[in-house]
Amino acid sequence: MKLIVLSDLHLTAPGETIIGIDPWARLDQALAHAQQVHPDATRYVLLGDLTHDAPPGSYERLAARLARLPVPVSMIPGNHDDRAALRAAFPDHPVCGAGFVQSLTDTETHRLVFLDTLADAPDPRHAGALCPARLDWFARALDGAGNRKVVVFMHHPPLAVGFPGMDRIGLLDAAGFWARARGRVAHLVLGHLHRTVSGTWQDTGFTVLKSITHQSPLNMHDTSTGLCVAEPGAYGIILLRPEGVVVHSDDFTLTDIGPVQSDARSV
Ligand SMILES: [Fe+2]
Repeated sequence: MKLIVLSDLHLTAPGETIIGIDPWARLDQALAHAQQVHPDATRYVLLGDLTHDAPPGSYERLAARLARLPVPVSMIPGNHDDRAALRAAFPDHPVCGAGFVQSLTDTETHRLVFLDTLADAPDPRHAGALCPARLDWFARALDGAGNRKVVVFMHHPPLAVGFPGMDRIGLLDAAGFWARARGRVAHLVLGHLHRTVSGTWQDTGFTVLKSITHQSPLNMHDTSTGLCVAEPGAYGIILLRPEGVVVHSDDFTLTDIGPVQSDARSV
């Protein structure tokens, strides 16, 4: 099973750019690239920050783009999203009983759990939260997994990666999440940081995926949460195997690296 994961789309009003990058052009480029290179993908995942503060009509324009995909799409909101506007544009996308954009889907070997970490009262700093209703739903999703390995997708990391600014606006009160997740989740797939990071936390493997648009610089000193750099855009490719989870990241915007060459001595 192969999944394509697009994180932090930040779709703007038409013509508006972010540090010179047009997010809509990036989305089109990412979708075209992924469909050409990975026609065997069975699901696409949008990992939050679908829009850049929800310009009017942006979710509807996104829905029109996604309607051309031949496979299902699972999505979650991020701190730059408007849950009501998202739900209005995607009326068929599943939500949990309390109305959050949380859902799950099962494969033969895995349960994919999508958590909505958009704070109830929008945090001016853009931190994320999981209220008791969402945590209860998450606990039931874990209880129902049976023998399937659980992969959790959420926008805000419930962990600190050493970026002083962004670590302050991750998932607030992550203890509630870990009280349920520890020892029961095979892998976490995260966004929000606009940078590729991987490791383990609470004995659980995690991967943070880059944005398809602008990235964060590798800066472990600055406390700002608004640092941006025009490093290449990327999307993630996740392979679900009975033995485990493999996560790739492809810088799909790199076009000047020349053709694939062969070195007889092996790489
Ligand atoms: Fe973002």
